[in-house]
Amino acid sequence: MTSNWKIFASTEEIFAALTAQLVALSARKAHVSLSGGSTPQGWFRMLAQPACATAVRWENLHFWWGDERCVPPDAEESNFGAAQRLLLSHVPLPPGNIHRIRGEENPESEALRYAAEIRQHVPVGASGLPSFDWVLLGMGDDGHTASLFPGQTDFAEPNLTMVAQHPVSGQKRVSKSAALLMAGQRVDYLVTGAGKAALLRDIRDLDANPAARAQSPWPAARILSLYGETTWYLDLSAASLMGGMQARR
Ligand code: 6PG
Repeated sequence: MTSNWKIFASTEEIFAALTAQLVALSARKAHVSLSGGSTPQGWFRMLAQPACATAVRWENLHFWWGDERCVPPDAEESNFGAAQRLLLSHVPLPPGNIHRIRGEENPESEALRYAAEIRQHVPVGASGLPSFDWVLLGMGDDGHTASLFPGQTDFAEPNLTMVAQHPVSGQKRVSKSAALLMAGQRVDYLVTGAGKAALLRDIRDLDANPAARAQSPWPAARILSLYGETTWYLDLSAASLMGGMQARR
């Protein structure tokens, strides 16, 4: 489990790179697990533009979510709702290929239902767990990813999904488990902004100390691809404290 740090001069350049990856991936059937929060929303807007939208073979893609807030799908805070407004309502992704977590349902029963839907559709990988072709994650400024928060994440959780609670707001979430996220064929992070720069520097420093990484309190430091390299897509602001990192040309 190693990390590859890709620094871009702007978020637009990051989104263009992610779009190229999605276009390539869409040449065949693929299951993609999207991150929530605000960062990917600029990418969704780019993907909805005709130039991008016509390059992607949407019929081959299945979209899933790493986590969801326990709110209705049309709520402002809904991760699915944001993707629906910004992207899904603008592109010909077949409705049956949209696998949202139903935030309006009882969290415990929805976690079980979502796990069953994953098992029904997503092929099992070498780890023995369903293996998403691409898991895209974000990172909070406390080091959480998906809805796996510091101090409340069981990295040995045997289930594919679980119910979490935001440590500040108390908001319930349904999230994929650490093991399921790590079982993805590719696991990448999209992180931007200066607010996360110090934490990213500390996480990057763990590259040289796997034993310390394994004990890190930050889920984003520990949830990496089991199968290879985890790529971090950062803008210059997010990478500003990492030293020696140049924007890609
Ligand atoms: C969520 C996300 C969460 C998010 C980070 C970063 O539901 O909030 O899954 O893990 O990726 O909190 O959020 P921002 O992109 O808004 O900074």
